[in-house]
Amino acid sequence: MTGPDDPADDPATRTRDAWERASHKHVREHDDLLAEARRVRLLPVEEELLAPVLAHRPHVLHPQSGHGLDDVALVRAGARSVLGLDYSRTAVTAAQRRADALAVPCRYVVAELPPLPVDDACADLVYTGKGALIWLPDLEAWAAEVARVLRPGGHLFVHEQHPMVPLWSWDEDEARIRPDRSYFARSHVNDTFPALGAVERQHTLAEIVVAVGRAGLQLLDLVEHPEPFWKPTGTRAEAWGGRLPNTVSLLARRG
Ligand SMILES: C[S@@+](CC[C@H](N)C(=O)[O-])C[C@H]1O[C@@H](n2cnc3c(N)ncnc32)[C@H](O)[C@@H]1O
Repeated sequence: MTGPDDPADDPATRTRDAWERASHKHVREHDDLLAEARRVRLLPVEEELLAPVLAHRPHVLHPQSGHGLDDVALVRAGARSVLGLDYSRTAVTAAQRRADALAVPCRYVVAELPPLPVDDACADLVYTGKGALIWLPDLEAWAAEVARVLRPGGHLFVHEQHPMVPLWSWDEDEARIRPDRSYFARSHVNDTFPALGAVERQHTLAEIVVAVGRAGLQLLDLVEHPEPFWKPTGTRAEAWGGRLPNTVSLLARRG
């Protein structure tokens, strides 16, 4: 039982607990993920937008690094090193174990963000997304930290769930607007695997862009895509049929 004063009622605690539970999947599926990591690549849209940045062999900071497969893909695409930060000790330990098995230059640290526990101007590229911003209540605080840790001329790249996605039903026959959701709501409780019960924050596309701009970063590209970055196995939704936005990519630079 939880009561009004129970810390488990706090959205941040609920979300963190949900991720700690969900991250055990990375341990259970170590062998499968290791096999996937041996062939993983960035998404084509990421490769395209990041090619000029990765050509300079950047040191990458990856807040909310999760299972770490993106980090192996970043190294394969040119990154010199990746530092992954995540508040799930389970996720961090599993990602480090895989990186060590593959002998890739990826290092992982347990950290709740913001703030980002690294020095000013230490990163050539901050890479994040694929289900990251939706756990952060204060995007302006996040963007200010990203700007602080980027070296002048360094880049921020985000490939993220489109802010319209919470509205789409996953019906097979037709995409419907969920009656229990609003584009302008501040949050909702996640009802899909893996982070069941976590409190998902909602930021409009304008709020994301404004947070990045207010932090002093210059927007270089913003692209909306019909493809989701992830589909639960066995689910076919008309919302992914090409008519609706499901992901967004953002590239910005510190001046
Ligand atoms: C959906 S995963 C996305 C990460 C990665 N792209 C992946 O596919 O595994 C979200 C990650 O964010 C982490 N996370 C959520 N809120 C966080 C916070 N405030 N500080 C640090 N990590 C956080 C969770 O532990 C989880 O590993």
